[in-house]
Amino acid sequence: MEFCLALVLSAATVLLLVAAEEPFASNTLSESVNISRISPRSFPSDVWRPLLLTTCFPSLHHESAPCRRVPNLVYGEELLYQDFRIRLPHFVNAEQKRIYLKVLHHYRHIWLRGRVIGDYAYFLNQRGQNLIYSNVMYVGKPVPGMWAEDACMSYSADKHVSAFPPWKGSDTAPAAIFVASPDDYSFQHFTDRVAMMLAQTRHLSTRVAGGWKYIVTGPYRVPAVSQLWPMLVPGFTPESLIHARGKPEIQTRLLVYPCQTPLIHPYTHQLASEVIQQAAGYDPRVIEPVGSRPVILFFARRGSRAWHNENECRLAIEQLIAGRNRNEQLVTFQADAYPNARDVVKLGRRVKLMVGVHGGAFYNLVYMQPGTGIVEVCPVAPDGKSSRCGAMFWEMSNVRNMPYWSVVATNVTHDWQILTMDCNLVVSAVRNALENIENIPSPLEAFHQGTKFG
Ligand SMILES: *[C@@H]1O[C@H](CO)[C@@H](O)[C@H](O)[C@H]1NC(C)=O
Ligand SMILES: *[C@@H]1O[C@H](CO)[C@@H](O)[C@H](O)[C@H]1NC(C)=O
Repeated sequence: MEFCLALVLSAATVLLLVAAEEPFASNTLSESVNISRISPRSFPSDVWRPLLLTTCFPSLHHESAPCRRVPNLVYGEELLYQDFRIRLPHFVNAEQKRIYLKVLHHYRHIWLRGRVIGDYAYFLNQRGQNLIYSNVMYVGKPVPGMWAEDACMSYSADKHVSAFPPWKGSDTAPAAIFVASPDDYSFQHFTDRVAMMLAQTRHLSTRVAGGWKYIVTGPYRVPAVSQLWPMLVPGFTPESLIHARGKPEIQTRLLVYPCQTPLIHPYTHQLASEVIQQAAGYDPRVIEPVGSRPVILFFARRGSRAWHNENECRLAIEQLIAGRNRNEQLVTFQADAYPNARDVVKLGRRVKLMVGVHGGAFYNLVYMQPGTGIVEVCPVAPDGKSSRCGAMFWEMSNVRNMPYWSVVATNVTHDWQILTMDCNLVVSAVRNALENIENIPSPLEAFHQGTKFG
């Protein structure tokens, strides 16, 4: 016992002596830590690029990407996303704010990424992983297209990092990126999941030659999705897709597994939109001043989630706009009128504000320019504990530098139809947005924690 203790003591003394001679240990650090940068693209998203850790070094967690030891895993990069904060939504009165925050409070066990303190929501310590395997098979996990805790881009996507068994390999097998995620065939979830993983892997997929394939759930039939693929992926053809559903195995020469991609970060959301704008023929650095954009775009609801006095409120907004006498116009968005995604991007350059009740149409914000305002009417359950909206369009717009107004509607049915909405609330929000949108500070800020959360 005593002998052991003496040994430990003398070892500690030696360490102390070494440390005293090299107080900053700078050489050790530069040798063992390989921190890569993503090359700038001259896009506004450049400032939000994550740092990449590509070498395992002592004290990095064994499940961080470069430290994972999994058969045939040849490269792992841990993406360290910068911390940021967004402002709380704008509200037209204190009661509206109280209801919104009450709902958010009830979501705190499922909405884990954000932390509301004062007037901001903080998004801290977000990580991503891009893992590359050579000569492995995809054998059904994660289950393609299913909403589950372990689905691609859900909280436990890391569970499947060792789900790819090695095989003997072949030069003719595809190099594939796995993006099969819940409802990835839909415009909504292609936009908030697949497009995000394409953004997180963009620096890899352009670097590797020979044409990548993309493992998706099944065939795409939604026109918007078919159009977004070639906009986001240079050289894309329909043959670039491999359908996972119903296939017992898919053999690959290289497999990229990017399912640990954050749902909400300025880098991925801005980059995806910039790439789309560029593909539509516009320079994403050139932003139309929001004050000179004439269109207020109105999203009408149809079918089961109707808003019963929607027309009354739309007319009231029309009156407000006419009274402002600023050459603004209210345009009701008809998806059929814009069969081509490029036309929505073109329209977006003229859009100052998007207004409507919560629904998939708000995903069109991916086509819109920074600065565009959002007024979302949100159906809230009568007990004020849940809503149809969650936090999604607030977060998605704010990380794109788009200010966001929330109007909660509490006279709703159990299936979220809005019975009667006080149109004055909606008109106040639209007025407030139109009056302030040109001068309002960005809702998005980079944030340094310091010891604030210590
Ligand atoms: C760091 O990465 C570069 C490029 O990937 C590689 O050439 C180099 O060997 C790496 N250094 C260490 C210490 O792993
Ligand atoms: C809810 O809407 C219904 C249908 O328009 C209306 O009769 C009722 O008075 C409304 N309730 C409240 C509390 O506003």
